Amino acid sequence: MASTTSPELTQFAEDVLSGLSSSPKALSSRYFYDDEGSRLFMEIMNLPEYYPTRAEMKIFTEQKAEICDAFTSGTDGIDLIELGAGDGTKTAVLIEHLLSEDVDFTYQPIDISQEANDALETRFKEKFPALRIDPHTGDYFKVLGSLKSDSGRRKVILFLGSNIGNFLRDNAVAFFKSLRAVMNENDRLFVGFDMQKDPRTIVAAYDDKQGVTAAFNLNLLTRINRELSGDFDLSKFSHYAQYRPMECAARSFLISREKQTVNIKALNRSFNFEQWEAIFMEISQKYTHAMIDELAGDGGFEIEREFYNDEDFYIDSLWRPV
Ligand code: AVJ
Repeated sequence: MASTTSPELTQFAEDVLSGLSSSPKALSSRYFYDDEGSRLFMEIMNLPEYYPTRAEMKIFTEQKAEICDAFTSGTDGIDLIELGAGDGTKTAVLIEHLLSEDVDFTYQPIDISQEANDALETRFKEKFPALRIDPHTGDYFKVLGSLKSDSGRRKVILFLGSNIGNFLRDNAVAFFKSLRAVMNENDRLFVGFDMQKDPRTIVAAYDDKQGVTAAFNLNLLTRINRELSGDFDLSKFSHYAQYRPMECAARSFLISREKQTVNIKALNRSFNFEQWEAIFMEISQKYTHAMIDELAGDGGFEIEREFYNDEDFYIDSLWRPV
């Protein structure tokens, strides 16, 4: 009988297969966000050690007028488009300000998850009855491509939370180039970057005392067990986070506590682990001004304005296409 696996599962299966077959072993952080993973990430955002969400929130709260002015200057109105809005708490600060200033705008969150979009729409319709919200479910670039010539108004695209940090540099540049390709000259891109800082602050953020980040990483093994019929024993893996200041890169790993073999039925394969062998799980890149400058340039943009507080702790950077 023909296999009836969904395309997403097939891609997931393929990526798990190639990641666990390579040396060193790796799994992709893009698969962290199943229902439980999304719930755990919300918990991470409330941890005392996880500073980026609060840092960005503080910038928005303290500088919402300047930020919204920069979004709207020289326009009659804007389409505010957000890539991966999550629970929308930070964006709500900007939306509330735009509404209070009677700015003509729509809010268009784009997410791969219909459920996430529905939840956000319900919450925002209740919170802001006057808001024109138009969620789109699907791949960022496909949706953006379809919006390209839509209204003729300025599109302001938000990519917040230092989500870009999960991309290796070349992938980040490719991502920005793809965005640039579906943007008009007058559109803007607003990107959140977590800056380099005391390495101890960074390591603590990715290795919290309560073990929520550990559970977040281990949850991907649970997902593999469930969706691909794997037999990972979570107690035989431990979470390890490190920061390398020369690269400004935080990375997390799951370490095999013992020599073991893991079977994954849907892949028809077993995978051997040496004692203390690592699976590379996630990069959370931190940035310097020079790195942001270079990324903007290589992606086809120039920096119009930057918003930050506490010196260079966290930056929201507004880019214009060149
Ligand atoms: C959602 C990618 C911004 O890398 O800081 C949080 C994800 N991983 N704790 C980050 C994450 C572990 C987060 N981003």
